[in-house]
Amino acid sequence: MRTHYCGQLDSRLIGQEVTLCGWVHRRRDHGGVIFLDLRDRDGLAQIVCDPDRPEMFAIAESLRNEFCLKITGRVRARPAGTQNTNLASGEIEVLCLQIEVLNASVTPPFQLDEENLSENVRLTHRVIDLRRPQMQKNLQLRYKVARAFRRFLDDAGFIDIETPMLTKSTPEGARDYLVPSRVHPGQFFALPQSPQLFKQLLMVAGFDRYYQIVKCFRDEDLRADRQPEFTQVDMETSFMSEDEITALMEKLIRTVFKEAINADLPSPFPRLTYAEAMHRYGSDKPDLRVTLELTEVTDLVRDVSFKVFAGVANSDGGRVAALRIPGGATLTRGEIDEYTKFVAIYGARGLAYIKVNDASQPNEAGLQSPIVKNLHEAALRGIIERTGAQSGDLIFFGADKAKVVNDALGALRVKLGHEKGFVNGKAWEPLWVVDFPMFDYDDDAKRWVACHHPFTSPKDEHLELLASDPGKCLAKAYDLALNGWELGGGSVRIHRADVQEKVFAALGIGEEEAQAKFGFLLDALKYGAPPHGGLAFGLDRIVTMMTGAESIRDVIAFPKTQRAQCLLTDAPSGVDEKQLRELHIRLRQKLETQVDVSGA
Ligand code: AMO
Ligand code: AMP
Repeated sequence: MRTHYCGQLDSRLIGQEVTLCGWVHRRRDHGGVIFLDLRDRDGLAQIVCDPDRPEMFAIAESLRNEFCLKITGRVRARPAGTQNTNLASGEIEVLCLQIEVLNASVTPPFQLDEENLSENVRLTHRVIDLRRPQMQKNLQLRYKVARAFRRFLDDAGFIDIETPMLTKSTPEGARDYLVPSRVHPGQFFALPQSPQLFKQLLMVAGFDRYYQIVKCFRDEDLRADRQPEFTQVDMETSFMSEDEITALMEKLIRTVFKEAINADLPSPFPRLTYAEAMHRYGSDKPDLRVTLELTEVTDLVRDVSFKVFAGVANSDGGRVAALRIPGGATLTRGEIDEYTKFVAIYGARGLAYIKVNDASQPNEAGLQSPIVKNLHEAALRGIIERTGAQSGDLIFFGADKAKVVNDALGALRVKLGHEKGFVNGKAWEPLWVVDFPMFDYDDDAKRWVACHHPFTSPKDEHLELLASDPGKCLAKAYDLALNGWELGGGSVRIHRADVQEKVFAALGIGEEEAQAKFGFLLDALKYGAPPHGGLAFGLDRIVTMMTGAESIRDVIAFPKTQRAQCLLTDAPSGVDEKQLRELHIRLRQKLETQVDVSGA
C-alpha cells in the first residue's frame, strides 16, 4: 500500500508523490488548514490538508486520534521558520492529495504523549501503550540486540538448538511453574527455569557450541529487574577453560553494545574476585561508576566500649565496615535520618556516623558523633587512617552479620553516590566477578546450598574441601556485572560423575535422591562427557540498561505486573470444572472472585 515510512521522508524527496500508511497522532485545525501528524513505526510526518480539495478536506475534518489512514500527497519543504529539528522528517511536509480512512478508532484510553501514566493503565491497554514512540523504539532495539547476539554467535560456530519447555521439576533455585499432565494423573511437568541441564547434555552429545535465545520461567518475588518469564541468551561450549569462555563472552558483549547502541565498552573488562567485591563494595555486582568504597574496621573495634561494634567484631561471621563520604560533614541531620531509614530496609539496626571536623585530632576534640566517647583513641586513629578521612568528611558505619552490613552499606554506597555525585562520569562500567564460593549456608534450612547451581565445578585445587570445609570451597563461576546489575552468569561445569556426586553429598542430596532427580545427568556424565562450561545473559536486562528504562517491563512487549499477572489478558484466571476434572485436579479452595486484577 505504501511507498515510504513516515520517518523516512526527508528533503531528498521534495517534489515527489508518496503514499503513507499510519495512525493519526495529532490533528491541529489552523483556521482553514488542517495539520495531521501521521505516525508509523518509523516516526512522524506532517501532513497538510488544504480546503481547496473539498472532498479530501471533509475527511480530514472528521479524523480523530488513532484513526488508521492511507494518505497520498506531495513532499514539499516546510516554510522557513517552521522546520522541526526534533523530527527526522522535520524539514519537509506532505501536501495531502488523498485520504483513505482504513479504519476509525474509538477514543483511546489515554493520549499517547501523556506522561506519568500509571503502569497498571499502560499494561491493561498495552496495545495502545505499545504504539507510543518510546515503546516502538525499545522493542526495535530489543530486536537489534537479539540480532547482534545471533550474528556473533552464528559466526563463532555456535548452533541454535531448541530445548524442551515441558520438563522435569528440579526444585533447586527458584520455585517452578508447574503444568499438570492429563495423561499421567497426579504428575506434573515444570516450565524450565533455564535450559541448564539440557545444554550440558548437548555438550555430552558432542555439539561443542550451543546457543539459544530462550524463555525461562521462575516463580520468584518480583522486582524492577525481574520477571516470572524472561529471556536468556543461553550458551554452552566444550573444551574451553574458564578464561577462554570469559574472553569470548566479553568480546560478544562488546560487539553487541557496539552494534546496538554504538557504545564502546572498555577492553579488557576488569576482574574482581567475589571476596574483594564484597569487601570493597558490599556487593557481587558492584556499580563501579560510584567512587565510594567500604573500609574494613572489624579488627579495630574488638575492644572498644561501644557494645554494638565490639559485640559484632567478636562474633562469628560479624562485620564492622565504614563508608567514608568526602566532604560529608555537611550532610544534615535530616539527611542522615533518611539514610538510616534507607539502610533499615536491608535489616541494618542503625547507621552510626562520625563527622570529622579535624582529622588530626582523632578524639572528642576533633570528631563529632554520639559514639565517639565509646571508641578509644587508638581505634579512632585507625579508622581515620584506614579510611583516609580528611577534615570535613563523614564516616558511616555498619555493624552486623556480614550479609546485613554488605547489603546495607552496599546499597547506601550506590544511592548516596548517585545522589551526591560521587561518580566517575563513565557511562558503562562492566566487570567480571570471579571465584565465587561453591556454597552458601542456609541458616533456616541448616544446610549448604549451591551459590550458582549444583552443576558448577569447584576449583581443581579445592576438590578436597567439598567434604572437609565446603564454606571455603571456591567455584569456577563468573558473573558479568554492569553498572550495578548482574547481566549474566555462568560457570565451568562438573564433567565427571564422581565429582558431581561429591557436590550432591555436600548439598545433603543423598544418592537415591540424586538418582531420582538428576539420574539422567549422572548417567550421561559416565559416557566420556567432555569438559564444558557456559553462561547465560539476561536479554531483558541488557536492553533495559541500553534504553535507560526504569523497569524491564518497558522492554518486554507483554510483561507481567509485580504481582505476576497479565492485565491485558487477565491471566492467570480460573478454568472451568471440566478442564480441572480432565487434569485430575480438585481445588482446595473454591475461587470466590476469579482474579484480582488490581495489580497494586
Ligand atoms: P542465572 O540464574 O544467573 O544463570 O541467570 C542468568 C541471567 O538471567 C537473568 N535473569 C533474569 N532476568 C529477568 N528476570 C528474572 N527473573 C531473571 N533471573 C535471571 C540475569 C542472569 O544473570 N543456567 C544458568 C546460566 C549458566 O550457568 O550458564 C542461569 O540460569 O541477567
Ligand atoms: P545506640 O547506642 O543504639 O543509641 O546507637 C548509637 C548509634 O549507633 C546510632 O547512630 C545508631 O544508628 C548506631 N547503630 C546502632 N546499631 C548499629 C549497627 N548495628 N550498625 C551500625 N550502627 C548502629
